[in-house]
Amino acid sequence: MNPAAAHTTPAAAPISPLFSLQGRVALVTGASRGLGLSMAQALAAHGATVWLNGRDADTLQAAVQQTGAAGQTGGGSAHALPFDVADEAAASAALAHLIGESGRLDILINNVGQRRRQPFDALPAQALRELLEHNLLSAWHLCREAARPMRAQGFGRIINVTSIAGPIARAGDAAYTTSKGALEALTRALAAELGGHGINVNAIAPGYFATDTNAGMVQDPATSAWLQQRSSLGRWGRPEEIAGAAVFLASDAASYVTGHVLAVDGGYLAHF
Ligand SMILES: NC(=O)c1ccc[n+]([C@@H]2O[C@H](COP(=O)([O-])OP(=O)(O)OC[C@H]3O[C@@H](n4cnc5c(N)ncnc54)[C@H](OP(=O)(O)O)[C@@H]3O)[C@@H](O)[C@H]2O)c1
Repeated sequence: MNPAAAHTTPAAAPISPLFSLQGRVALVTGASRGLGLSMAQALAAHGATVWLNGRDADTLQAAVQQTGAAGQTGGGSAHALPFDVADEAAASAALAHLIGESGRLDILINNVGQRRRQPFDALPAQALRELLEHNLLSAWHLCREAARPMRAQGFGRIINVTSIAGPIARAGDAAYTTSKGALEALTRALAAELGGHGINVNAIAPGYFATDTNAGMVQDPATSAWLQQRSSLGRWGRPEEIAGAAVFLASDAASYVTGHVLAVDGGYLAHF
């Protein structure tokens, strides 16, 4: 199986108003590479002003340049917003800076996620706390910060990046599964709590993507052979294949969609 199976990208076409993000301001956490970068680029290509987050300023700057270039076709732009999502004070200060510069925040994508594969009773308590801080509490805090301007605007789109390891589980991965399951539950809870303010809250649950984090597994023929059997499409996802779901959930096309978890997994959850 070829993880990057051949595909063609059609020439740039005018963006349907249903999917246009012109005038929208977005923040994507963990956007300096992988799925976050793909989503940031797609939002910019559909006209949004996108603030990219990550911790390493140099990597982030390169990602901002790529995203700015992607935005040129659709009228979008890109800016860097470096901070550690687990640092609440830094996150609040960064959000305040974003609002000061852009005047609003329409779209928040909580994409940072750590993984710690270990049997549940071998994982040190402190490691579990740190993982939950990165995967769950940071998203909770950013939702709380973002909800303030979104409520005032009467419009908002929050997208939490969960995982297929939210609804299903495998041995030796309890901390990650717990965090993603809880993030899914938070998505529904906030959809209920914020819906009356014009804020839609949804989640994207990725399956197996050929990102840098998974490079070792992508190169392992046994893992790819297993994935071929285990999922309907039988291959790794390309990072850019997450982008359509993010644009959809951020756009007017999803105006009546909230509290939903959209699996982008090549049929992994549906297949058995
Ligand atoms: N890849 C998959 O197959 C897959 C499958 C299911 C779910 N997911 C989920 O999708 C999301 C993205 O996955 P990915 O594979 O694209 O991730 P990745 O390649 O590991 O990228 C992580 C990004 O997050 C940033 N980051 C990490 N910790 C951070 C922190 N504390 N504060 C701010 N930024 C931080 C990194 O930049 P710096 O290091 O510079 O901070 C980088 O930009 C995660 O939530 C993951 O759980 C991925």
